[in-house]
Amino acid sequence: EQLGLGVDIGGTKIATGLVDPAGTLLKSSRKPTPADDPKALLEVLIAEIRAFADEYPVESVGIAAAGFVNAARSTVMFAPNIAWRDENLKEPVEQATGLPVVVENDANAAGWAEFQFGGGRDAEDLVLLTLGTGLGGAIIAEGELLRGGFGMAAELGHLRLVPNGILCGCGNRGCWEKYTSGSALTASAQQLAAANSPEAERFRAAIGAEGDDITGELVSKAAAQGNREAAELLAGLGEWLGVGIAQLAAVLDPSLVVIGGGLSEVGELLLKPARDALREHLPARAKRPELALSVATLGGDAGMIGAADLGLLASRGSGVGR
Ligand code: BGC
Ligand code: NA
Ligand code: ZN
Repeated sequence: EQLGLGVDIGGTKIATGLVDPAGTLLKSSRKPTPADDPKALLEVLIAEIRAFADEYPVESVGIAAAGFVNAARSTVMFAPNIAWRDENLKEPVEQATGLPVVVENDANAAGWAEFQFGGGRDAEDLVLLTLGTGLGGAIIAEGELLRGGFGMAAELGHLRLVPNGILCGCGNRGCWEKYTSGSALTASAQQLAAANSPEAERFRAAIGAEGDDITGELVSKAAAQGNREAAELLAGLGEWLGVGIAQLAAVLDPSLVVIGGGLSEVGELLLKPARDALREHLPARAKRPELALSVATLGGDAGMIGAADLGLLASRGSGVGR
């Protein structure tokens, strides 16, 4: 049986996975992302693909990239959290490996995986939001992955929710991802820990780290262990999540919104405040059905699985719809 390889390139890690046509992840590896150095990144990417292709029957490669991907699915035109500018990944990787390559936005790939194999298997429409370094989005409408006019649809993290808000890597201010993402959590946690208050002191003790060593993961852990300040930070993120989803509902009216990425593992600590905010901000809220908000079933593997599947579909000449 021929297998697909999916590579998920995010702001902090490169995850490579061997996937069968039924969407089962068979084997995977992880490397840190050299986010400031596209040349070094390409070298890691090629080495990872070769390592798998040397050992297994790899038919095709799908690359899920955390950035704005062109309609030809070859090039990352821009990435807010990686130094890619007009970076063609398809050609050099095809040349180096001899395998057919498709490049897709990372969140689109994750959304595709949830739709095909995960929590959206029975849905015809879904929106996926993935919370990592940035906030990524995917829109599946009427059974198809929405690409837009230029391939860049569903850059949902760059919806501007806050006029003159926090400066974003995309050049604008007030983007949703500056308020709802792993790096937003890290930033707010470091800010709280630096404060001079009894709450900050309690928080520092619960986290067990200081300054730049404070990560979103530590906050999630402290919250799960009952630290109130950590739970409040997650609730703040959840609130912005709900506010943004209410805006999406005005445009798309999705019946299902799936939350993915590492942060989604905190579950209700994030989703409960998100549902509350959604209810509060949803247009015509008293008179419309409430959408389902759930955690992605494929977790952090969704990007690899979706990318691998999209690579296989492309190499077999199939479209990406049901
Ligand atoms: C990027 C998206 C990406 C998302 C999640 C955002 O900053 O603009 O392309 O999907 O982060 O990685
Ligand atoms: Na997207
Ligand atoms: Zn932005």
